Amino acid sequence: MPLVPPYIASLEPYKPGKQTAEIQKEFGLTRIVKLASNENPLGPSPRAVGSLQQYYSQLHIYPNGGLDLREVLAQRYRLKLGNVIAGNGSEGIMSNIIRAFLCDEDEVLTSEGTFVGFYVLARSRGTKLVTVPLKDYRYDLPAIASKITDHTKIIYLANPNNPTGTIFTRKDFDDFWGRVPAHVLIILDEAYFEYAKDNPEFPDSMRYRYDNVITLRTFSKAYGIAGLRIGYGFAHDVLISNLLKVKLPFEPSTLAQAAGIAALTDTEFLAKTLETNETGKRFLASAFRDLGLTVVPTDANFYLIPLDSESTALQIYDGLLRLGVIIRPLASFGLPHCLRVTIGTQDQNDRLVEGLRQVLPSVPLATGSR
Ligand SMILES: Cc1ncc(COP(=O)(O)O)c(C=O)c1O
Repeated sequence: MPLVPPYIASLEPYKPGKQTAEIQKEFGLTRIVKLASNENPLGPSPRAVGSLQQYYSQLHIYPNGGLDLREVLAQRYRLKLGNVIAGNGSEGIMSNIIRAFLCDEDEVLTSEGTFVGFYVLARSRGTKLVTVPLKDYRYDLPAIASKITDHTKIIYLANPNNPTGTIFTRKDFDDFWGRVPAHVLIILDEAYFEYAKDNPEFPDSMRYRYDNVITLRTFSKAYGIAGLRIGYGFAHDVLISNLLKVKLPFEPSTLAQAAGIAALTDTEFLAKTLETNETGKRFLASAFRDLGLTVVPTDANFYLIPLDSESTALQIYDGLLRLGVIIRPLASFGLPHCLRVTIGTQDQNDRLVEGLRQVLPSVPLATGSR
């Protein structure tokens, strides 16, 4: 028996987007624009930051497992406490879902071109991971439904999807849900919910509460506190009670929980975040068009840019890196010919567009991508 199971030995550790300090050192640059990880370009919610200090003197006390945040969320959404979970980011909760519900012979089903963090988690359990190609950079829900077998245990759907930024509608989901047996758990990852919620086509999963759906949301994006690691989930109490059995007893941390509760009250920051994103979204769509680049219309805080090949994508990525603009290549997401850029502040967006203006002339773009 090997020490390391083969399904772990064959994994690659998760590679986050390049970090600012890394690029500063590598290329001797001072000003870096990081548009690689869909972080909030305005920084953290000021209310979240302001809430931290009052907990410093209590850091010798163990946290209460997210109870305070669960209570706040239960009240806000008119749910029972037993329908709410809090965790170390929404990925922390995803990890608990995998641990709580997957058995060796189970299958996990999702799309190609979706959140790499989920692929990493699903593969780490060693069960079969079935993926279905995207259709026009969107989830092909009928094709996913057609892959359900007696072994399917979990279906993962991100709405909006990362890295495409696309959504599926309520009708799309209802048609799909009607084909999913009741014993199959659907993870509905709404990490970018706040950016999409005002699109009338977007189905807010909290308005339709199905027994086999778990909704996941996060404070990492629109509230800007990714560094604290705090996310939450809503589901039937049978699902939540079993997740609570496998969750680390003291996640989330005291500071993460406090910041999450405070962030929920920061309506001013949320409004500014959404406004900045809308302005940036329009600006970049038009700038990309002028540069001859196609983008996929987005309902999130980033754009997917399809190119003609992986080599073209990597040349653009490298060229921008040397100018101090970090964006995301997407081979690990299964889309090697694409790039993803986070929508930034006007200043950051200007730097990105200026960088592209410098880099693109030396990149042989095939017709079709221009
Ligand atoms: C679709 C999706 N889900 C989940 C996450 C992770 O969120 P968290 O920071 O809450 O773990 C991300 C982060 O990029 C994401 O894009």
